[in-house]
Amino acid sequence: MRRKVTIVGAGNVGATAAQRLFDRGLADIVLVDIVEGLPQGKALDMLEAGPVIGTDSKIVGTNGYDETEGSDIVVVTSGLPRKPGMSRDDLLLTNMKIVTIVVEETVKRSPDCILIIVTNPLDAMAQRALEVSGLPSRRVVGMAGILDTARFRAFLAAELDVSVESVSALVLGGHGDTMVPIVGGTTVGNTPISKLLSASRIEEIVQRTRDGGAEIVNLLKTGSAYYAPSAAIAQMVEAILLDRREILPCTAYLKGEYGLKGIYVGVPVKLGANGVEEIIEFDLTPDEAAQLKSSAAAVEELLEVMKASA
Ligand code: LAC
Repeated sequence: MRRKVTIVGAGNVGATAAQRLFDRGLADIVLVDIVEGLPQGKALDMLEAGPVIGTDSKIVGTNGYDETEGSDIVVVTSGLPRKPGMSRDDLLLTNMKIVTIVVEETVKRSPDCILIIVTNPLDAMAQRALEVSGLPSRRVVGMAGILDTARFRAFLAAELDVSVESVSALVLGGHGDTMVPIVGGTTVGNTPISKLLSASRIEEIVQRTRDGGAEIVNLLKTGSAYYAPSAAIAQMVEAILLDRREILPCTAYLKGEYGLKGIYVGVPVKLGANGVEEIIEFDLTPDEAAQLKSSAAAVEELLEVMKASA
């Protein structure tokens, strides 16, 4: 029997993630959205591509949750996206309400699922999902670090005219202005980037990475990025379904790792069949450790706002 993945939100991020997963044929997919006809239409359109692509997966769209029953993975993408000039944090209270309902409705029907949270502001939404779901923290994980790291790698590869696969990098921290690119550990074909680029050029690329989401929002004007985010979602889903135990930067609940406790923030995790199999700790420079702390403090501020509104 094929595994089952539910994607909530049939907007650009959710539908493109559904398409990427459907094309790979790894699981049957349920696409959920409140807009009548939207998930049904997109799912049917994808299903009809099956004979051309050569996939036998099933995909259905629905405005309710009953079809999601028994899902192995639930990906939560629903919520408002940013408009130009908005920060991810401006979405906090509206998206908190949406994520709360979605998590309640899906986990009730799939109590053994792994939740992948994508809705912004990501770190705070992951925390909310943990609280609402009552799931163990290894089964509630957020998508952001793969996206932020991919942007950093793409910019560096373009700058140095090498394959993206030759650029090894890691971006940690919250998914926002305080994200922490680990510059010291960034290598191109094993050579540290500090030997290949000036400090000022590296800083410019780091800043472009920090602003990567906003750069796309400003270009699109009507929404936020979805090709790269959906690729990151597909990588996480595949790591879980195939129990790949891939080490990927994800938003995970820390219980003292990196000196942080009781908070979601982006760190390297081993992602496998049980979700977050392990949080990978490595030595940060004092500066990186300080940046990670202030990133966590920014997430903490959002948690306080959510608490006050409850
Ligand atoms: C981004 C949004 C999706 O980084 O957070 O593009």
